[in-house]
Amino acid sequence: MTKSGLKDTSVFTPIKVGNVTLSHRVAHLPTTRFRASEDGTPSNLQLQYYKDRSATPGTLLVTEATDTSFKLGHYPNVPGIYTDKHAAGWKEITDAVHANGSAVAVQLWALGRVAPPEVSKARNVPLIGPSAIYHDEETREKAVKIGHELRSLTEEEIHDIIYNQYTNAAKKALDAGFDFIEVHSANGYLLEQFLHPSSNKRNDRYGGSIENRARLLFEIIDHLLTFVPAEKLAVRLSPWNTFQGILAENEEISPVVIHSYIASELQKRANAGKKLAYVSLSYGSITTPDKYGFTYDNTFFLQIWKGIVLRGGQNSSTTDFSGLPAETDDGRTLVGFGRHFIANPDLVKRIEQGWELNKYDRSTFYVYSNEGYNTYPTYEDKSEVDIEAARAQLAEALISE
Ligand code: PHB
Repeated sequence: MTKSGLKDTSVFTPIKVGNVTLSHRVAHLPTTRFRASEDGTPSNLQLQYYKDRSATPGTLLVTEATDTSFKLGHYPNVPGIYTDKHAAGWKEITDAVHANGSAVAVQLWALGRVAPPEVSKARNVPLIGPSAIYHDEETREKAVKIGHELRSLTEEEIHDIIYNQYTNAAKKALDAGFDFIEVHSANGYLLEQFLHPSSNKRNDRYGGSIENRARLLFEIIDHLLTFVPAEKLAVRLSPWNTFQGILAENEEISPVVIHSYIASELQKRANAGKKLAYVSLSYGSITTPDKYGFTYDNTFFLQIWKGIVLRGGQNSSTTDFSGLPAETDDGRTLVGFGRHFIANPDLVKRIEQGWELNKYDRSTFYVYSNEGYNTYPTYEDKSEVDIEAARAQLAEALISE
């Protein structure tokens, strides 16, 4: 034991999120890992991964970003939540998490303009975004070369996204037994592309003013609220994101403005009896330090939104967790971990006890085998892992045809 654990601090006191009571405030953040089967059905590897990480009763896990539909962009071996088969696979995972006394949210992902053009072409789906503005030159060149260029969504397609695609995914998520459904509107993906004037140059009701740029997000939220209880719905936002071409230099208006509007709209719904379970807020950069010198200060958001907040993005580069109790002392903050949770299946216990952490190995984050996935030992089980065998073990769908 090298540090003192946080056992006797506010981090390890119960908190109610929606209708679920968690036993502590350490949560698993979404982490893209490419370990689903080819058709997006969750795999045996994922079942093991989430089962292990929910072992401490009362833990909240948010799954990796999961395809909302076939049409909104895809990376190979990313899971989906749009077919009955996907839902049946996820059900095995949610059952395992619930058997541990823990809770799990699915994160609904839509790539939009950052989707790999060749994957969209192979699937025979258009490469789409709010506007035909590429996030980088490499994607533009590739799209041009293969004759599958980015184009803006039509209003009819936007309607389909809300009333068919998100609706279908949310229904499947309920079928799959998820405790929460987290709408991903962060990190340069489709819904965040709508929020920013650098990626959204539309001149219809989905572009221009702040209200218009946030319209798609709220039409999705409001429609989901017609059949998903508010206490099961959540949203992820990254006000300071610069990843994937968001907030280009020429964007003159601070992201505080639209995110204050979003916070007020969420709080307005809460005041009217539709309080979302939580807002997942990013406090850090996905890539190396951004060139704008942002401080990732989300105080403005917390002054407006009074509900539960899941803080993420700031805990990967340190193993000194002595500052966490000061964050959770406010009675409404959960602290999220991605990379440390990847490397430490028993992260909750390690933080509770002050046990040393395994180090994460970035080089195996995105490989397709079990290496670097279910190969990290717990603190109490030091038995050797057979890395060669793990390297040979590929994802197998939990559900066969
Ligand atoms: C990623 O796969 O790199 C990724 C996915 C979702 C995020 C951020 C990054 O929100």
